Amino acid sequence: MPIITTIDDLKRLHKRRTPKMFYDYAESGSWTEQTFRENTSDFDEIRLRQRVAVDMTNRTTASQMVGEDVSMPVALAPVGLTGMQAADGEIKAARAAEKFGVPFTLSTMSICSIEDVAAHTEKPFWFQVYTLKDDEFMKRLIGRAQDAGCSALVITLDLQIMGQRHKDLKNGLSAPPKFTLASMVDLATKWPWGIEMLQTKRRFFGNIVGHAQGVSNASSLASWTAEAFDHALDWVRVAELMKMWDGKVILKGILDAEDARKAADLGADAIIVSNHGGRQLDGALSSIKVLPSIIEAVGDRIEVHLDSGIRSGQDVLKALAMGAKGTYIGRAFVNGLGAMGEKGVTTALEVIHKELDTTMALCGRRDVKTLDRDVLLVPEGFEGRWMP
Ligand code: GLV
Repeated sequence: MPIITTIDDLKRLHKRRTPKMFYDYAESGSWTEQTFRENTSDFDEIRLRQRVAVDMTNRTTASQMVGEDVSMPVALAPVGLTGMQAADGEIKAARAAEKFGVPFTLSTMSICSIEDVAAHTEKPFWFQVYTLKDDEFMKRLIGRAQDAGCSALVITLDLQIMGQRHKDLKNGLSAPPKFTLASMVDLATKWPWGIEMLQTKRRFFGNIVGHAQGVSNASSLASWTAEAFDHALDWVRVAELMKMWDGKVILKGILDAEDARKAADLGADAIIVSNHGGRQLDGALSSIKVLPSIIEAVGDRIEVHLDSGIRSGQDVLKALAMGAKGTYIGRAFVNGLGAMGEKGVTTALEVIHKELDTTMALCGRRDVKTLDRDVLLVPEGFEGRWMP
């Protein structure tokens, strides 16, 4: 087994082990993938201030996200089809997260159902909802998350319609995979994945199949979202959904200060500054570039989190120092899962924790909660001068 020291090591193993259509699904942005690329490259523009002769003992990365204690402010983001990256993937990732002391967010588009993940974990996890046209289904879905003891509802606002990811169309992405000549040839080289998959019953969209009416092809994410998602979603509907939930609410997909103000006006507990990992509006700015304007607009009224682009503990530190109270990893944990199952997710969290902790120390800080702009060197004009 190779020695794992970075998320990239896990990514290489993930690519080798997992069918191409699922690896590509994770490793894609929409259209030209400009936003997908800049989510990571913009982090690289920010440099760190080395400080010396500062006591480094007794360091802590412990913090809180929406009032919950976390061993580091890095939650697992909701990622569709996680249970196709490795058999029972959502259960494995949720278990790794709870052992590590960070939140796990289950996607509506998961393979393992809400009830299944709850039955295989001890601590409450968070549940992410997409807004669907079928109001009865929505009420039941939110009720199921409540009954399963989920402690926060994450409402995704940036995917009423799906951004086009070319590779998914070309690969014929579906769950479970269809047996075409290309997918059979690929699967022949990924047989350990196939053997594990044959041993589990969890191969369909567990929150949808058997729960939603009138879905003509529930194995295809693209056709299902096109048919079932509520294109009419607006802030009034967001307020209605928030009322259906008794607990913390996090609004995900905010990339504009005006939208951040609207989210804060609704009384949500947190927002996630996110462009959906560059998978929705290609050409949008990276999350880290818009974070300062959003902190300035609402930072004193609502907890601000960030996802999209985080691949290392240094990225986490940069986001926190720029004002985020919490961060999320999607691809970084999926790379771990696809590489080595639950152990791989734990390894991804360990890698990120070590990078965060060591970087914090070398920047002269001992407590993650004290990180601020003072530890960073942000190039002049970093946020850019963009005219509306
Ligand atoms: C779903 O959330 C996706 O980005 O594929």
